[in-house]
Amino acid sequence: MTLPLILRSVADLRQHVRAWKSAGQTVGVVPTMGALHDGHLSLARAARAECDRVITTIFVNPKQFNNPEDLKHYPRSEEADAALLATVPVDVIFAPQPEEVYPDGFATTVSVSGVSEPLEGRMRPGHFDGVATVVTKLFGMTMADRGYFGQKDWQQLQVVLRLVRDLNLPVHIVGCETIREDDGLAMSSRNLRLTAAGRAKAPVLYAAVTAAAADIRAGQSDRMAIREAAEAIRAAGFDRVEYIELRDAETLMPSDDPTRPRRMLAAAWLDGVRLIDNIPV
Ligand code: PAJ
Repeated sequence: MTLPLILRSVADLRQHVRAWKSAGQTVGVVPTMGALHDGHLSLARAARAECDRVITTIFVNPKQFNNPEDLKHYPRSEEADAALLATVPVDVIFAPQPEEVYPDGFATTVSVSGVSEPLEGRMRPGHFDGVATVVTKLFGMTMADRGYFGQKDWQQLQVVLRLVRDLNLPVHIVGCETIREDDGLAMSSRNLRLTAAGRAKAPVLYAAVTAAAADIRAGQSDRMAIREAAEAIRAAGFDRVEYIELRDAETLMPSDDPTRPRRMLAAAWLDGVRLIDNIPV
């Protein structure tokens, strides 16, 4: 199997993209931090189906880690990632070094207010500034027509949609469904850090939010359903429920208006690993 071309510099990337564009081809980008699994590959496959050319970016973005230990221990597996991406296949892997993305003198931050403030934004200060900044840069570097993001990170997807609208970026954002293990656990590179016992308990997060959403649709009060879900997650052996909230799906603000699309979002700690999930209500 031939591996996708791996490019490290913006100049090389631009050269390829310019050639594609002058041939009238459309370009899709799938931003990732590597350690790829089927969730990431589903985005690449969606891009493959809809675009003439597909770029997957692999960049562990230091600006979005508020915990230096988390950054240091983030899994890196470029060779395995390239082999997986060859199965899609993608045309180019863009895997720059941090100096290429943030050269000396770099001074700009893209900060999206509102939607990036609650939930993940509150728990991980600066995280979404880092995401918004790097995603804006990746759109500029790749000049992509379409950008593919997972609903697994629902709030991130809403932040990206907001910034693309606000800055008139000429890219169409596609939000792809969460890919899950057979037992419902949302795929994540963090799942590998769970012990066997933790892995056995982990599906309760999804099961509990699914049950709460069903109860709310059946007429139970939001508060009661959420309290029961939090209790179920704790009872299963999770160390801590960081949040479990019913929010407006787009603004991420509290919402008790069932006529608006709403989303239930949760974050909880198990085995020292932070798991997140979300579903429509
Ligand atoms: P990363 O965590 O590597 O995720 C890359 C993309 O894969 C994101 O859009 C994420 O939502 C999607 N993804 C992860 N798990 C998924 C699953 N189980 N099902 C569907 N999609 C899934 O998210 C980031 O990287 C970074 O913040 C990034 C956007 C690359 C900016 O640095």
